[in-house]
Amino acid sequence: MKRFGFKAVLGAALLVASLSAPAQAAGEAKHPAAMDWNFNGPFGTYDRNALRRGFQVYAEVCASCHSLNQIAFRNLGQEGGPEFSEAEVKAIARDYIVEDGPDDYGDMFERAALARDKFPSPYPNENAARAANGGAYPPDLSLITKARGGGADYIHALLSGYEDAPEGTELRAGLYYNPYMAGGKIAMPAPLLEELVEYGDGTPATVEQMSMDVTHFLAWAAEPELEQRKRMGFMVLIYLTIFAGLMFFSMRKIWADQH
Ligand code: HEC
Repeated sequence: MKRFGFKAVLGAALLVASLSAPAQAAGEAKHPAAMDWNFNGPFGTYDRNALRRGFQVYAEVCASCHSLNQIAFRNLGQEGGPEFSEAEVKAIARDYIVEDGPDDYGDMFERAALARDKFPSPYPNENAARAANGGAYPPDLSLITKARGGGADYIHALLSGYEDAPEGTELRAGLYYNPYMAGGKIAMPAPLLEELVEYGDGTPATVEQMSMDVTHFLAWAAEPELEQRKRMGFMVLIYLTIFAGLMFFSMRKIWADQH
């Protein structure tokens, strides 16, 4: 006891006490678990199958409330993404209606989307979106994994983390309890339910699986050039290593007789 002063012992005790205190103080959000994403790390890549399943979840579930207005249909066919074939991309686009015009008479008109169009918003404008969602605005999802602290881990935790509100929590109509949302309340009803979609590749559509897949897809949407960027970084490293080696030997040669 002599060797550690009283203050040090007290400090350690306080630290232990604060660490074991309930993680969720009032108003604070639960910390999302760190997931082992395929796209993490210097050599990480997107998982094509996860991207395709995630796209299916976005299209069948989230697109009815959330736009994805930075992504064009043809991006779905690009290298480093879900890599749908040209025919698949066209078929996907045809399911969406976009506004075009004005035509020769000055009128706007609607038509089926083409590969070059961006994913349209499900609502004509922000007020309509709010009116349909109890006053809350469903944000565009193009950059959502970058826009929120915790990134992909947070989005995954949020989607799969709905719970019954703890005793004593008041929830106004149109609000739902989710411990990962700051304040614990969110205006989005739990969007995923077991077996909500039927995956083409036979993967069981659990809530966990769907939230992993759609988050994977949204991570790609926020950073479609991630694979190219990492590949480029790797090439630059190789180049610099070779260059440093060459410099080292040529310097040795140049300075050899100067000793
Ligand atoms: C019925 C409409 C509806 C559906 C379907 C829906 N959402 Fe939402 N979402 C909302 C609304 C409304 C908000 C705004 C919530 C708020 O601000 O409290 C929201 C917010 C969000 C947020 C932001 C949370 C934050 O940190 O602010 C994310 C991420 C999100 N939704 C993802 C999704 C995904 C992914 C899907 C599909 C699996 C989906 N949503 C399906 C209505 C919807």
